[in-house]
Amino acid sequence: MNAVIEERRGSVLILKLNNPPVNGLGAALRTALVGAIKAGQENNEIAAFVISGEGRMYSAGADIREFGTTPPAGTPDLNDAINSLEMSSKPVVSAIHGVAAGGGLELALGTHYRVGAAKTRVGLPEVTLGILPGAGGTQRLPRLIDMTKALELITSGRLISVDEAHKLGIIDEVADGDVLEAAIEAAERLATEGAAPRRSRDQAVGLAAAKDNPALFEDFAKTMAKAARGMNAPYACVRCVEAATTMNFDDGLKYEREEFTKLVTATESAAMRHAFFAEREVAKIPDVPATTSAKDIKSAAIIGCGTMGGGIAMNFANVGIPVTIIETEQAALDRGLERIKGNYANTVSKGRLSQDAMDKRMGLLTGATDMQAIGDADIVIEAVFEEMIVKKEIFSKIDAIAKPGAILATNTSTLDVDEIAAVTKRPEDVVGTHFFSPANVMRLLENVRGAKSSPETIATVMNLGKTINKVAVLVGVCDGFVGNRMLHQYGREANFLIEEGVLPQQVDKVIFDFGFPMGPFTMGDMAGLDIGWAVRKRKAAERPSNQRYSAVADRICEQGRFGQKTGAGWYRYEAGNRTPIPDPEIESLIIQASKNAGIERREISDEEVLKRCLYPLVNEGAKILEEGLAIRASDIDVIWVHGYGFPRYHGGPMFWADTIGLDEVYETMRRYHAEHGELMRPAGLLEKLAKEGKKFSDFKG
Ligand code: CAA
Repeated sequence: MNAVIEERRGSVLILKLNNPPVNGLGAALRTALVGAIKAGQENNEIAAFVISGEGRMYSAGADIREFGTTPPAGTPDLNDAINSLEMSSKPVVSAIHGVAAGGGLELALGTHYRVGAAKTRVGLPEVTLGILPGAGGTQRLPRLIDMTKALELITSGRLISVDEAHKLGIIDEVADGDVLEAAIEAAERLATEGAAPRRSRDQAVGLAAAKDNPALFEDFAKTMAKAARGMNAPYACVRCVEAATTMNFDDGLKYEREEFTKLVTATESAAMRHAFFAEREVAKIPDVPATTSAKDIKSAAIIGCGTMGGGIAMNFANVGIPVTIIETEQAALDRGLERIKGNYANTVSKGRLSQDAMDKRMGLLTGATDMQAIGDADIVIEAVFEEMIVKKEIFSKIDAIAKPGAILATNTSTLDVDEIAAVTKRPEDVVGTHFFSPANVMRLLENVRGAKSSPETIATVMNLGKTINKVAVLVGVCDGFVGNRMLHQYGREANFLIEEGVLPQQVDKVIFDFGFPMGPFTMGDMAGLDIGWAVRKRKAAERPSNQRYSAVADRICEQGRFGQKTGAGWYRYEAGNRTPIPDPEIESLIIQASKNAGIERREISDEEVLKRCLYPLVNEGAKILEEGLAIRASDIDVIWVHGYGFPRYHGGPMFWADTIGLDEVYETMRRYHAEHGELMRPAGLLEKLAKEGKKFSDFKG
């Protein structure tokens, strides 16, 4: 396969980047490109070049899989390749279609004129991989466009539309028709005009702004504080862009390369690259190959219009799929539809949705109080109260009414999907779709595979995830499925730590500083403590009498402190303010609870807090893997990054454990087991991998 396909059109040499699936700028391609440009320079019949992409895009940038590998001796690096285009004495024009991302856009910025096809997206997403545009992007972009815009694009990694890129000055021309033809025309024109090629390195559009405002970079860095918390890459991006204003172009490139090299070898980038590939791997299900026929979902029905049902319905309406929503009482239905309307209106008021789009979405929602209305739906999702008897009754009705072949899904977060499927005559069509609250916002979707769910059913709900813009992960049936089952370990240990000597604010700070959006007690207050209390009361009889149990949360609930909604929970709150304030009353209550449990309180380090909260969570992940309830460790990471705010720059809990070393995790769990008993027993898989010196990423099921 030729990594660069050469075609001649008169005096224009077309060089098509050819490295499927995304034209990653790997070693072979770079070598071929530099060779072709050199030969073209020396060929008197060639007056100009056009660079384009073979297949579905221009280029997605550096081949990420090559990071950390050594290319064959003599291979030009990406900077060499881009410089050879930029320094060409003959005009080089880019014909960009699909996507030009990262090194792909940097390559285009090295050409002298850029033509974009309609619907093209361009950007520098390196920061989302924990690195920075390391092939001149931080030096060329601020020379071409407004400085603040360049900073915003580089530090956010956002891909923008060709029209926005045109307005900003990244793209010179948006092609009306065929982009390659337009680029050839431009190349011929530039060659005929005979002017010196316009090199990005010689431009200075954004540079003046910094001279007028020396505090620009410091001020900009402050605006990123929340989004960039815990990460190095966004700050390195700002430093490199600043270098474009203080150094000459070549020194700036050198500085950028040094900063890039530091980042690409750090764990932050390894973790974020892991997350990138994990999100793509998750769609691959060994016994449900990509060729499995999936059903087309053109209409949906949701049973239950509470917060969850309403949120789920919005996902369908958002992508133009009509939804029928069922409630037993008209008043409840009206309330649910009003809530949806309120959610949309809120987005409209923030300017993120037009009134017209909102009206269209509302127009796709039909309420009904008669179950017969689900009869035509391609998928029926039950989202009612979390009670087995209720769910079974509803599934019998769904079975009687839904059309043959419809997918029958339950949005349970804890219940046995197989038991629910067993009340129907078509368990092969039954599956769990576990949405996370708020369902219209959270991107995670745990698709729960029942023992009898057919491959077609699974393929359909995995595809559906993509259609409604979710990250869908396939999991097996168990209490809490993957995410909540692991969360339970973490919540339990946080509560035990409170009894042993720390206060909620210490645990929350440790977890926040690790990178989660908030700690477990702040989270509990936000979600409402009464829900967990009700579950604990319901399950009290199932708990072995010799098992340790922390009653602190129950004592708090008994006082009517259910969290933010009652103005007090683990913390107290001032009217109209959601900031948790440590409460001396809770401190006394906790100290009393320790006494009642016969526990002598002790100093506990932040390090121990972190390990006690997160190692048992990882340990549970290992049990889930060995029980075959998740396909691979990286699927668990995707669940935690998208459903629970696990910091992406740690990759997810299983990747994080791999970076620490499973021997350390195992030895610590062994000690906890000896000190705290059965709940802390190390998973067999953790022990096995640790003893073999392996990682979770080595586990192949
Ligand atoms: N390197 C290696 N593989 C890549 C890749 C890259 N830059 N980009 C995508 N792929 C792979 C994916 O892993 C996937 O592989 P599988 O089919 O085996 O799962 C395949 O290409 C298709 O990718 P998507 O499923 O993501 O395709 P899509 O059409 O949904 O999205 C895209 C296309 C928007 C370009 C998306 O793939 C993407 O965002 N890619 C990464 C872009 C990026 O971050 N580029 C910067 C690279 S780093 C760099 O360039 C450094 C530098 O400055 C020198």
